[in-house]
Amino acid sequence: MKRLIVLLTIVLLVLTACPLSRAELVELRVSPTSMRLYSGQELIMTFHAVYDDGEVVELSYQDIVINGVDNLYLTEVGLKVGNDLEADKAYQVTVSYEEISATIELEVVSNPLLNYYLDDDGRKIVEDSERLDVIVSKEFALTRDDMPNDLVVPDVRWPPNMGYVGYLEKMHLRPEAAVALEEMFAAADREGHILYGVSGYRSYDLQVSVFAHYVNTLGSEREANRISARPGESEHHTGLAMDISGESIGRHRLTTDFADSPEGIWVAENAADFGFIIRYPDSKEDIVGYSYEPWHLRYVGVELAQTLYESNLTMEEYFGKFLE
Ligand code: DAL
Ligand code: ZN
Repeated sequence: MKRLIVLLTIVLLVLTACPLSRAELVELRVSPTSMRLYSGQELIMTFHAVYDDGEVVELSYQDIVINGVDNLYLTEVGLKVGNDLEADKAYQVTVSYEEISATIELEVVSNPLLNYYLDDDGRKIVEDSERLDVIVSKEFALTRDDMPNDLVVPDVRWPPNMGYVGYLEKMHLRPEAAVALEEMFAAADREGHILYGVSGYRSYDLQVSVFAHYVNTLGSEREANRISARPGESEHHTGLAMDISGESIGRHRLTTDFADSPEGIWVAENAADFGFIIRYPDSKEDIVGYSYEPWHLRYVGVELAQTLYESNLTMEEYFGKFLE
């Protein structure tokens, strides 16, 4: 009997030390587990296998299988949403490694460069003008009757003695942009920079007169269109753009001098944290359609604004990459 016990103990010891009895895979750990991606976008992800002895092993993308969703891939970069995957929809994606699975919540957002329909003349007309990432430009126009229905007047400083009283049309913005502008102006104030709102929402009809003014002043539609949008093609029509100026700029004009003023430098460095981008940057006229406007702030939301700021890309460049 004693011998048998000794023998069994030896067998047990050998089995425990044997590599065949390796730890059991208990979890596939995925990061992030929930995401909002544009069609065509790729996201770096991490996958770890967790074993019951506490060991955690980083897995490569090749180890992972995506189940049940076509047009979703793991490339060398990360998870890529194929352009053929239906957008503006939420997906629950199951990924697996060996016999263990994990779930990812994925929201796919359509590319704003595809947010249009063609009118009878073959012009691209913006389909959904309420999106905060809407692109309105020389390529994508709004119709005359497409106007925001939730405009508000942000509680910010306006140039004194210049008619900014009551509820002037150009003092309006969409609510998200208005709140963000108030927060940005307050933050600038705290750091000693006095900013002024100059021109926000402009209806189609107001843009008719603004554009006509520049055609008159500059002598041709072509020259006017380098700095002023044709009616329907202005971002001001969305209620998401505000031209701003600063205390050190005489008469609070809209001038490229703003870029070198203390207020303009502060805005360029901080606007993204409040969800704004400088929509018409220096040296990008051939891409965005207008010459440099350091005063023209466009609200796109904090996440997108920070991404664009850090990548130094315009909306056209950033979203264009997802179509490649
Ligand atoms: N100044 C910009 C381009 C506009 O007119 O909307
Ligand atoms: Zn502007």
